[in-house]
Amino acid sequence: MGRKLLSRTICGEPIVFYRSRDGRPVALADRCVHRRYPLSLGRLQDDSIECGYHGFVFDCSGACTFVPGQDRVPRTARVPSYQVVERDKWIWIWIGDQSEADPALVPDAHWLDDPEWASVEDMAYSPFRYGLLMDNLMDLSHETYLHAGLIGTPEIARTPFTTHVDDARNRVTFSRHMEAVACPPFYEKTTGYTTPIDRWQDVAFQPPAFWVNNVRVAPQGTPVGPNGDEGGAHVKILHGLTPETENSTWDFWAVVRDFALDDDSVSQALLTMNQEVVQQDLDALTVLEQVVASEPPGTQELSVEIDAGGLAARAMLRKINP
Ligand code: FES
Ligand SMILES: [Fe+2]
Repeated sequence: MGRKLLSRTICGEPIVFYRSRDGRPVALADRCVHRRYPLSLGRLQDDSIECGYHGFVFDCSGACTFVPGQDRVPRTARVPSYQVVERDKWIWIWIGDQSEADPALVPDAHWLDDPEWASVEDMAYSPFRYGLLMDNLMDLSHETYLHAGLIGTPEIARTPFTTHVDDARNRVTFSRHMEAVACPPFYEKTTGYTTPIDRWQDVAFQPPAFWVNNVRVAPQGTPVGPNGDEGGAHVKILHGLTPETENSTWDFWAVVRDFALDDDSVSQALLTMNQEVVQQDLDALTVLEQVVASEPPGTQELSVEIDAGGLAARAMLRKINP
């Protein structure tokens, strides 16, 4: 995002983004108050947008400052503006009642912009409801089947995990610690470790849709040390799911690591392989969206033990937003 108007729909709301001259991100409703023409089709004039249809001008607070052909600007001529925070390389927007916006609620993603970690990032336009991706991320046993030969190995689906719900902090976590298991290409090509390895997945979900998989991989038997996870290599996979509409989602993701920080070939390998992983999910969930959309709402599913994390996340979302 920069000095070019960027149009993006988030939670069904059309929004235009740009940066003011001093670099601050601005987000306004992407509809002119006059005849609803998208402001993103207009022109940036200093820190204001000139509507591309009849030339109304709006400043970065959304207030109209100019109406062609008259001196007086109607008092009600204003487009809604959104509170945004730029933190850890990502821009976080508050949708809903702007008076309730609270920067303290922005999830911690500091690894994206921390000299002790190296990061690769991308995003995927996902033509399906975000809940499908939430279910997917909250049950990593699917890696064994959908991502076999890339990041999945047989042991993942075989190894039980523990789920923990923290209602006070609104977090769902689940952990799966595997010992002496196969090292998939995702980690073999990037850490140099070979089978057998110890592999941990400690996942944290934070509503409304932020997800981090804290991974530790290490040669089998590597001591963990007094802090509980020393030794080996650490990777964190982050997803910031951003619903576009009821049936489409922006998936902002990143892979960060604490090893080979300056090795571009490792960055490239992680980027390419995670793009492949994301694409495999995307292909599957695109099919699933069509199936779900074609069936009556509430069509019966069958949940089993592997769904504990996903069901807990759904329950937490219902509690927060009944
Ligand atoms: S629609 Fe924007 S000025 Fe007319
Ligand atoms: Fe997946």
